[in-house]
Amino acid sequence: MAQQISLQENNIDQILQELSLKEKASLVVGAGYRSMLAGIFGFRVPVPGAAGMTRDIPRLGIPAIVLSDGPAGVRIEPGRKGNKVTFYCTGFPIGSLLSSTWNTDIVEKVGAAIGNEALEYGIDVMLAPGMNIQRNPLCGRNFEYFSEDPLLSGKTAAAYVRGIQSQGVGACLKHYAANNQETNRFWNDSRVAEDVLREIYLRNFEIAVKESAPWTIMASYNRLNGVHTQQDKWLLTDVLREEWGFDGLVMTDWTGKRDTGAQIEAGCDLMEPGTGSQIRELCRKVKAGELSEEALDICVRRVLELIVKTPSFKGHQPSLHPDLQAHARVALEAAEEGIVLLENRDGTLPMDPGGQVALFGVGSYQTLAGGTGSGHVHRPYIVNIAEGLQQEGFSVEPALADIYTQYIAKNQPKTSFMSRMVGGPGVPEMPLDKNTIQAASATADWAVFTLSRQAGEGGDRHLDGDFLLTEDETGALSQVCNAFHQAGKKVVVVLNIGGVIETASWKDLPDAIVLAWQPGEEGGNAIAHILSGKVNPSGCLPISFPVDYFDLPSSAHFPYDFHGKESFISGKEKYADVENVGYTEYAEGMDVGYRFYRKEGAPAVSYPFGYGLSYTRFQVSEPIMMDGKATLTVTNTGTVPGKKVVMVMDTALRAFGKTALLAPGASQTLTLELGPARTKETDKIKP
Ligand code: GLC
Repeated sequence: MAQQISLQENNIDQILQELSLKEKASLVVGAGYRSMLAGIFGFRVPVPGAAGMTRDIPRLGIPAIVLSDGPAGVRIEPGRKGNKVTFYCTGFPIGSLLSSTWNTDIVEKVGAAIGNEALEYGIDVMLAPGMNIQRNPLCGRNFEYFSEDPLLSGKTAAAYVRGIQSQGVGACLKHYAANNQETNRFWNDSRVAEDVLREIYLRNFEIAVKESAPWTIMASYNRLNGVHTQQDKWLLTDVLREEWGFDGLVMTDWTGKRDTGAQIEAGCDLMEPGTGSQIRELCRKVKAGELSEEALDICVRRVLELIVKTPSFKGHQPSLHPDLQAHARVALEAAEEGIVLLENRDGTLPMDPGGQVALFGVGSYQTLAGGTGSGHVHRPYIVNIAEGLQQEGFSVEPALADIYTQYIAKNQPKTSFMSRMVGGPGVPEMPLDKNTIQAASATADWAVFTLSRQAGEGGDRHLDGDFLLTEDETGALSQVCNAFHQAGKKVVVVLNIGGVIETASWKDLPDAIVLAWQPGEEGGNAIAHILSGKVNPSGCLPISFPVDYFDLPSSAHFPYDFHGKESFISGKEKYADVENVGYTEYAEGMDVGYRFYRKEGAPAVSYPFGYGLSYTRFQVSEPIMMDGKATLTVTNTGTVPGKKVVMVMDTALRAFGKTALLAPGASQTLTLELGPARTKETDKIKP
């Protein structure tokens, strides 16, 4: 009997010869929801809670491999039936905070820590980074994404991928492409002109493909110009592979069966999570001559090429206890680096530790570490702002703290099996009364008022009480500012949010504003280090903060007022002809974010793309432009050490960099490689 061959890196051709049709079809179809739902139903799988797997073929030495979410950390079940060991994962800051660092070195460090946790928990591919362009501030998943600008988004994603893959684990760029809203995401048709698509919505994926060679890419749920991306040959083969040279694997996002034959023919190699009906359909179509076996073989080959790269194939024995303490330090460092100082009147910040701070806002005591959905993480802990300030040497006004902690205990949202898996809404904001505010202003030295917002996968945000502050919030903030200002004391607002909110109408009330985003499990410590001056803020905005939502050219072409409940089916039929639900016209074209605001005649913005303050001052020399590079020198002309982000912009961001921590008086010269000029000449920009 001839020796049965076993998969090796160099015998994929022979393996292809050996595989039966059914075995080939089983390799391009995932193993279903067993892994993701193992924590609920107790299925025996290698990594309970991991989003998906491929199927094994033991007779040919082909193992199943494990795919796990998510962008802010590994998302797997934290406990296993009958096992006392826990499987918590480090909760890193959200994508929008990572891009706010403008520091690809720290992003790569985060990627490496996530990749190491994946490796040590037995995962082969991380389904991250999420990197869709933040076309409109109300997209529910913007927290996972990086920027309105494709260069910052692409460079951040590339650094993140290099970090993950440095650990021998695969990454996955998602969701390719033009998946810029959650409403009706399975069926919505993104209608985008090709020049806009290439310059804005594909450019970031192109940069990440070319600068990090991701092992995989996830094709999004939505349609693009009438064709589901998961079966769009132009997108998955012509552009991605033939133009950009991508040589990895394309998988679907987690859809049920669609047109499996068309997906294979388009170059979609792996149907996740996978159903038996897809295997049967492929076999039937090949036997009926409706699908060529060569087309199937191309996808099978790419699945095998992925498998032979993975730790599972290489026989890696996961330790099941990665160094979570070391990774927590990385999460803290990244959070400190990405927090953005938006206002700091009369040098309100930093505040000397030792004083007593009155903490307002539920988010001060239950700080949101990240968003909801597949981007959730089962973290070992979350340091809230109160704890962070206390650890930094501040005392927290006790009477107010008691009121909030009792309110929070009484108003915890009900948990469900979904919220256990993917997180849920935070505690609703506590109404404040005048006496409480007055009493706190008499005893505390200063106030911190935390405004929180939660959002996540599967739904978009809305205006009232979300993008806009509620009347209660505005009223409470005004009363706190009045009371503390009358007592000659300062008020600092901390924004604990996953996406842009309205700021113009209230930003003159407090003395300082700190944008902490959703800063991960170490968020409270990072925020305290910024407020105390232990760390000088150096984050800058990756997205514009509009004065008014309706200033945005995309505002009318987004489902900001849709409150329906579309489903996988109703989305296809019932809402097919509903604007911004069945289809979304990207009528704003190139006018996304600063590309719009920098145009002559455009309205003012509340906080512009790239904005961020520091506790020190810098001088930046005029860039010397030569051979596609910009060289400039940054000098710290202030009194405390600090880092400076520098950007080279014409009608678009062309390059960026960040200095090391510069001591007062110190200088650093940066030479930045210019990215591509815009393909389409644009209108004059504001001086
Ligand atoms: C989800 C998300 C995707 C995730 C996948 C697996 O629906 O869209 O980002 O990786 O399914 O959980």
